[in-house]
Amino acid sequence: MGIQTKITGTGHYVPPRVVTNFDLEKLMDTSDEWIRQRSGIQSRHHVEPGTGASDLAYEASLKAINAAGIDKGEIDFIIAATLSPDHYFPGIGVIVQAKLGINPTGALDVRNQCSGFIYALSVADQYIRSGMYKKILLVAAEVQSSNLEFSDDGRDMAVLFGDGGGAVILEPAEGQGQGILSTHLFSDGNFVQELWMDAPSPMDKPTFTHAIIDSKRYLPKMNGRNVFVNAVQRMPEAVWAGLEHNGLSIDDVDHLIPHQANDRISLMVAKKLGIPVEKVIRNIDRFGNTTAASIPIALDETLRAGRIKEGDLVVLTAFGSGFTWASAIIRW
Ligand code: UT7
Repeated sequence: MGIQTKITGTGHYVPPRVVTNFDLEKLMDTSDEWIRQRSGIQSRHHVEPGTGASDLAYEASLKAINAAGIDKGEIDFIIAATLSPDHYFPGIGVIVQAKLGINPTGALDVRNQCSGFIYALSVADQYIRSGMYKKILLVAAEVQSSNLEFSDDGRDMAVLFGDGGGAVILEPAEGQGQGILSTHLFSDGNFVQELWMDAPSPMDKPTFTHAIIDSKRYLPKMNGRNVFVNAVQRMPEAVWAGLEHNGLSIDDVDHLIPHQANDRISLMVAKKLGIPVEKVIRNIDRFGNTTAASIPIALDETLRAGRIKEGDLVVLTAFGSGFTWASAIIRW
């Protein structure tokens, strides 16, 4: 067995402002009861104007660097995953690099939405395995709240999403059989329009017009029911693919960390997989759906709570816009 990749430090950061379901009741025709019953969400965090995904990424990165016990100058590659970058271009990888004050190094941006963290983890894993890089910072962060419509028209999306960032440091594992065992990535682009943000698009000439703003094509749109149905199908499939690849069964799994899209989705995924619900990490009640950041936030919370022990089998799975879905099988 060659080099394997280990997560040696984790961190997360959410902006201080907590927005409860009751706060949202004041802005749109919704209720705490509806939001809790349909999604399990009770509150989420929102940034103040002027804060970007790179700011949340920076804070989460500092914590992960600290937890790994490395000097930030040792980082030899950065991967950043977000669907809500500070700017149309460049991506946030270079901005995080500059904010951290790290010397020029490669900075890659990954755009796979809710599956972004696992896609990025897969990329990082290949670099570590090949020996190309030794200390990778992988950070995922989202600012969703700036592009949601807090009114009756936007209520289906506005109640679900939150802002936050999560980061991990990846290094070669010292022990054999420890670290990321495998990652499994999937996509089906026939479902692009089921969960997407249509504009701004260079296909519109010019890209920015009042008509585009008036049509609200710049707001994220989701066919909630179809996304739900596919999520509860695809995440178990990705987990089964990962377990089978490693000759493992669901009984071997100590912690399942699903992307936090909806607590009902997480519970249905658990039921389908036949894994006891106590092994499923669920924190959507306090964060909402933070897209690419949801898995590293949940991982960091679980680790810091002391729930993950050396030798535990940790399984990550995600599903989202694209559609894309993925899993990662990790021996801690
Ligand atoms: O990160 C990956 C991407 N996201 C997901 O995986 C989310 C997947 N989808 C879902 O989680 C669920 O489909 C939702 C939570 C989005 C919606 O739950 P649902 O049980 O599928 O509700 P629904 O869309 O069928 O809507 C039920 C009703 C509708 O009213 P009518 O047409 O039945 O009269 C909606 O207009 O609830 C209404 N509704 C709301 N009511 C109060 C929609 N949003 C709200 C709201 N407050 N915020």
